[in-house]
Amino acid sequence: MKKKIVVLASGNGTNFVSLREYIRKKKLKAEIVSLISDNPAANALLLAHSFGIEPISFSFPKEEREAYNQALDQKIAEYSPDLIVAAGYMKILPPFLVDKYPNRIINIHPSLLPSFKGLHAIRQAMNYGVKFTGCTTHFVDNSLDGGIIIMQSVVKIKEDMTESDLTAAVHKEEYKILPKSVHYFLDDKIKIENRKITIQE
Ligand code: GAR
Repeated sequence: MKKKIVVLASGNGTNFVSLREYIRKKKLKAEIVSLISDNPAANALLLAHSFGIEPISFSFPKEEREAYNQALDQKIAEYSPDLIVAAGYMKILPPFLVDKYPNRIINIHPSLLPSFKGLHAIRQAMNYGVKFTGCTTHFVDNSLDGGIIIMQSVVKIKEDMTESDLTAAVHKEEYKILPKSVHYFLDDKIKIENRKITIQE
């Protein structure tokens, strides 16, 4: 039976596309059953629709965060997913939801965690003046971008790089490590001891 993946995304959805491509090419026994967004204008929703993947969006006013969280929880539960992937999802998941899926939510973050947590991580790295940055996949826990790290990839910040050059370079690495991390998860190759992950190839 195919493993079910729910993808959460707030924006462009390029990581969602690369994950879907990888699943298709590698013929993984997995299916993205839904793309859920907090942003009704997200391009990711249009992409999902074009792939025949159910696009779901909730638009609650900012002050109705609790109602949004409940609706999100209910919708995810309807799919009984094996895995949730936050692929450019810009909201913090509520603790009650995170606790329901321990080590079953994977997030991709555009920095070498634990550096540059939170929003605009690529800009943060550039402004800080680090020479290397990159991206990280990690399991989501109730800390901000602080869950157990699965994979990382390094990107050198060259002197003449603009923020958009660096974003493109980081994305290129994201498209490698997110699908791979999902693959390892689906094949049950990720072993966790304390905070340390080993991949049993
Ligand atoms: C990606 O770079 C991802 O790492 C980042 O959002 C981008 C989404 O791009 N996520 C975060 O910053 C989460 N804190 P995409 O919509 O084209 O996949």
